[in-house]
Amino acid sequence: MLLRNIELEKAACMLVNWYDQFRKNTIKAQIVPVPDDVLEYLRQDLVILPKECSVLSSSDTSKTKHFNTYNDEFSDDDEDEEELPAFPEFSKKLSDSIEKLGGSAFLKSDWHSPKDAQWITLGQSLKVKDITDAYQLLKASSFCKEDFGERSSPANGGGFHVVLKKWCDIHPGSEFRCFVKGRSLVAISPRHWPSYHEHIATERNDIVSDIVSLFKEKIKEAFPLKDYVFDVYRPAKDHVVIMDFNVYGKGHSDSLAFDYDQLDADAVTATIEEEDVPEFRYLPEDCGIQPNPRNNYGFPQDVLEMFQGASGAAGQPAEGDGLIHRLMDEWNLQTNGDDDDE
Ligand SMILES: Nc1ncnc2c1ncn2[C@@H]1O[C@H](COP(=O)(O)OP(=O)(O)OP(=O)(O)O)[C@@H](O)[C@H]1O
Ligand SMILES: [Mg+2]
Repeated sequence: MLLRNIELEKAACMLVNWYDQFRKNTIKAQIVPVPDDVLEYLRQDLVILPKECSVLSSSDTSKTKHFNTYNDEFSDDDEDEEELPAFPEFSKKLSDSIEKLGGSAFLKSDWHSPKDAQWITLGQSLKVKDITDAYQLLKASSFCKEDFGERSSPANGGGFHVVLKKWCDIHPGSEFRCFVKGRSLVAISPRHWPSYHEHIATERNDIVSDIVSLFKEKIKEAFPLKDYVFDVYRPAKDHVVIMDFNVYGKGHSDSLAFDYDQLDADAVTATIEEEDVPEFRYLPEDCGIQPNPRNNYGFPQDVLEMFQGASGAAGQPAEGDGLIHRLMDEWNLQTNGDDDDE
């Protein structure tokens, strides 16, 4: 059995290493290399936003209004301003990139989006409209922090990056995860498994044939790995967009409607006629409310405890409580709204 080189596989899945090749079939992106001082700042646990964010919030009233969570509510005075970190060049590159992408972007580190940190932005969305949104998400996300980790990894030989993609309003029922084993497309799952979407059953043949066409025409011979997972978005018939490439296997990418043991076993017995004839699994009918996976990344307990610990005497709310309650109310409103939709 061939030993896998996971670092090599991770390198192949970094957007910076596949973007140029698949530029025509993916969402427009901007890649910003992370210099060492920013890297050091991103690795620290303390969430203090750089100076450029305060400049932005005091000068630009047209962008997102931020509570300026960490700088305004808890710092004593303007005196702290002097001690704020500053990364003028990097911040400028971030804001230029957002601008080039039309003013709103989706952000990622080399492998992960900050989906565990959605709670921190006021709109509780991963939509990034300015550098404050970007820094807040990057600093609050454990997934991104891990990507910026200190362990030297050959996959990051070319350095670390922040990736900004043009923001698209994506219908969750039109996203799919595709599993490739031995360069053959073997399985397709709805990306937001197990939620039910009526159109998937009615369009199942078109969905499969559109994804198989994209795979055979653009990906199969071009992507360097034999086993991998790729995510796609199919906004309309005959139109499939590559969203991401991920490392194949348990502990690397969620297998959603499938099981890696089964996929591996099936691949061993597959015949040549079965090449690129993927199994498509989806929920054929609505079996009631399915858990919203985003709720797994709710308000972090340690943040709640920190704020509760800051409460005033005899249950009187302390100053910070107003902020946390406002954020939590918004969070609850949003997540309840999401559940109603599904
Ligand atoms: N450009 C975009 N605009 C808006 N939403 C997006 C955009 N790109 C991705 N998303 C949404 O964010 C979700 C997660 O994106 P992505 O798969 O890139 O993150 P990830 O961290 O690599 O996830 P995983 O760890 O599951 O592979 C997507 O399923 C999609 O719904
Ligand atoms: Mg991914």
